[in-house]
Amino acid sequence: MRIPFQNEPFTPFNDAGNNRDYDAALQEVRSKLGRHYPLVIGGERIETDRKEGSINPARIKETVGIVSQADVGLAEKAIQAAAAAFESWRYVAPEERARYLYRAAAIMRRRKHEFSAWMTLEAGKTRTEADADTAEAIDFMEFYAREMQRLALPQPLTALRDEENELSYIPLGVGVVIPPWNFPLAITTGMTTAAIVAGNTVVLKPASPTPVIAAKLVELLEEAGLPPGVVNYLPGPGSEIGDVLVDHPLTRYVSFTGSREVGLRINERAAVTQPGQKWIKRVIAEMGGKDAIVVDSDADLELAAESITAAAFGFSGQKCSACSRAIVHEAVYDTVLQKVVERTRQLVMDDPALATAVLGPVIDEKAYARIQEYIQIGKTEGRLIAGGGTGSAEGYFIEPTIFVDVDSSARISQEEIFGPVVAFTKAGSFEEAIALANATDYGLTGAVISNNRSHLELARREFFAGNLYFNRKCTGALVGAHPFGGFNMSGTDSKAGSRDYLQLFMQAKLVSERY
Ligand code: NAD
Ligand code: ALA
Repeated sequence: MRIPFQNEPFTPFNDAGNNRDYDAALQEVRSKLGRHYPLVIGGERIETDRKEGSINPARIKETVGIVSQADVGLAEKAIQAAAAAFESWRYVAPEERARYLYRAAAIMRRRKHEFSAWMTLEAGKTRTEADADTAEAIDFMEFYAREMQRLALPQPLTALRDEENELSYIPLGVGVVIPPWNFPLAITTGMTTAAIVAGNTVVLKPASPTPVIAAKLVELLEEAGLPPGVVNYLPGPGSEIGDVLVDHPLTRYVSFTGSREVGLRINERAAVTQPGQKWIKRVIAEMGGKDAIVVDSDADLELAAESITAAAFGFSGQKCSACSRAIVHEAVYDTVLQKVVERTRQLVMDDPALATAVLGPVIDEKAYARIQEYIQIGKTEGRLIAGGGTGSAEGYFIEPTIFVDVDSSARISQEEIFGPVVAFTKAGSFEEAIALANATDYGLTGAVISNNRSHLELARREFFAGNLYFNRKCTGALVGAHPFGGFNMSGTDSKAGSRDYLQLFMQAKLVSERY
């Protein structure tokens, strides 16, 4: 008998003891920097000649790990290894599959700060953000293990006389799992373990900026006893090996989280039937966002300012759920703006390894250049009233940046910047604010800060976002409580962390026996 699912609690870092423990974990992880990470295919560790260094975005001279890179031939080998492992893994009982996840979750819980510390050093997450990422990874494993056990129970059907009917969920086959770097543990763990607990095998291609964290997950799954070949670790450039994995006739499904551009490419390629392919490939694609917080005229303005600041600048705006648009009723526009600017000026941007840092760096040089380009564009589309500059040259630091009086059709209101930049837009009425919020191609998260019941009900009906929040920020979905996924160009609305999620990795089989 297991306890019902509960979310993993976050570590309170106002406690000095927890900070000391975290510092010790950072020290321990730092002593392991610069190690080599081979591919893992069918349980075999494969070093390649071509290697990439993964670096700390807060201290670009610090190499976190040196990671072997797969080529097309090794991508083929990984798919074959996953196909071979599927022939036995598919028959492992669902309860046994679930136990691997429970064990992995238990180990991760015991070594929580260690996993978080890797994220501080490889992804630039502050301790609060890293701790939440690890907690979410634990949640995904605990939640999906229970879900598999639920789905393995006899499924309700209409009973007929003299006939026995049984519906069971069986796995799909070999899957390609392609996660992003911004939740390098939580999303990678959720996507990978959902697929395997459902009975599939996986080729995991980690995001290029965060391959070491993915390697740590693969080591953890091995430690939990997962048989070889069930998860194959295949770091390498997405642009080189991505197509091979997606196009392969043995690939049964692709589970992707990342940008709209790559997601649409995968969706198109997976739709083409390859010689020897016997199925329609399934694509689960969760993509970008251009998420808005709407502030009503009668809103709690402190709450509005707190929600906008946290959702716009948490992890330097590098969340698909981040608030990149603040759409504020004209009656309270100036006051909300002033409060957000005051709060933003208090955010301490520093090396995230330090307990005092609230904001860290952005992920890499490419992001650093792209965000600065958008800041230049913003200067032509609105008025810059906070930030706009960079920080310490030791890393990729960009100040939290606020533009005001931005038209909703401006590029900085329409295109995903994926950095610490928020655009304020004034609305003449609540109805106009909702229309502006909906005026993008995306539909991932959104929030409304209001005390007006009829306005909240209007937003409930009309605000077109997969995750809509009232009187709170639009980031920070919890597994089980806030199933996560977006509408329109934000993706396939797969709702990670929900009761519906595992069925995306399975097919239902009905057996009917007449007596
Ligand atoms: P990205 O699209 O650049 O990369 C995502 C993954 O795709 C990486 O592993 C990358 O190596 C791989 N890839 C690149 N080219 C490929 C190709 N041709 N074929 C196959 N794979 C390929 O995205 P990113 O920069 O890692 O992540 C940021 C993006 O992810 C943002 O747009 C963000 O909004 C989105 N995101 C969405 C969610 C969500 O749940 N909707 C969650 C987190 C991040
Ligand atoms: N699940 C993450 C959030 O809600 C992206 O912020």
